[in-house]
Amino acid sequence: MTTPKLRAELDSIPTYKPGRPPAADEDGAQTGPAFKLSSNENPYPPLPGVLEAAIAAAGSINRYPDMACSALTDELAARFGVPAEHVATGTGSVGVAQQLLQVTSGPGDEVIYAWRSFEAYPIITRISGATAVHVPLDADERHDLDAMADAVTERTRLIFVCNPNNPTGTVVRRAALERFLDRVPSDVLVVLDEAYREFITDEEVPDGVDLYRERPNVAVLRTFSKAYGLAGLRIGFAIAHDPVAAALRKTAVPFGVSQLAQDAAVASLRAEPALLERVAGLVAERARVVEALSGQGWTVAETQANFVWLRLGERTTDFAAQCERAGVTVRPFAGEGVRITIGEAEANAILLRTAESFRKEL
Ligand SMILES: Cc1ncc(COP(=O)(O)O)c(C=O)c1O
Repeated sequence: MTTPKLRAELDSIPTYKPGRPPAADEDGAQTGPAFKLSSNENPYPPLPGVLEAAIAAAGSINRYPDMACSALTDELAARFGVPAEHVATGTGSVGVAQQLLQVTSGPGDEVIYAWRSFEAYPIITRISGATAVHVPLDADERHDLDAMADAVTERTRLIFVCNPNNPTGTVVRRAALERFLDRVPSDVLVVLDEAYREFITDEEVPDGVDLYRERPNVAVLRTFSKAYGLAGLRIGFAIAHDPVAAALRKTAVPFGVSQLAQDAAVASLRAEPALLERVAGLVAERARVVEALSGQGWTVAETQANFVWLRLGERTTDFAAQCERAGVTVRPFAGEGVRITIGEAEANAILLRTAESFRKEL
């Protein structure tokens, strides 16, 4: 029997693989200590005032949300000092990234990004029909911006720069990024994916919004999923010039961002002191974890995000399995390495104990 004809591109597209949840028995009950360090989520509950805002919005779920996300857009525009027309919200920053591909790239076009980087890039690039151009990270697990600029051709439409990079946590600094942007033709869109921006403490890492101001071909992606802890509500945004921002509004799924997400995001922005305190706590834990791992003899990539990367090669899946047995799930990339989210102190302690015993067995 014949089946409906689908686009040929789909054959080569892997399905997005989410981080594993903590182990559970057959009835779904948790078996022992169980922490999820596999999805770069925030271990804290919603910020003060956020749950109340979401609950209030839930009272109106028989109504469609504000399609323009007006209150949030105005709040973001004021916060970043950009025109409201340059703010485009969407269903998580990955949803906005997919729209950016939709508005720039199709069959015959090329999309450049570092590799390894965020796993969604190859998927959403291939869905658009465009050709993905992978540029290997350098020996220090960082973007090789010179090689990325060299990879630009007349078919290039979009370049992702993931800063900090998922899964390595490494960053590109101001001078190198500006040099790179100077080399990219002005009709190629450069997307600075700053999903983990809030965790950056290195002052040499530029704020993408400053670069957007001077360069019409730069768009910045941000999310409420990580530092703000709203991963479950699916809300992110881009800051981009026209015509990119207008194109994002055209391609948005109508009413895609729920009112719960919109109101929770506004409440999160207004809870800045608590946000900063939590981010400082996670950054301190990050330093503690990196120092402890280095002390155990591991080579840890220099991270500015809420996760660390261990290049374990062949031993990757063994390490991940050992972590799981000990009560924490991490994110293995078989044959390459493991990404470990900075979580609750207790979870980080289990991770460090496991890493130490694994190291001794090597
Ligand atoms: C680099 C990067 N960009 C974007 C996202 C997407 O986040 P969200 O769609 O939840 O905003 C992620 C999530 O893991 C990420 O790591």
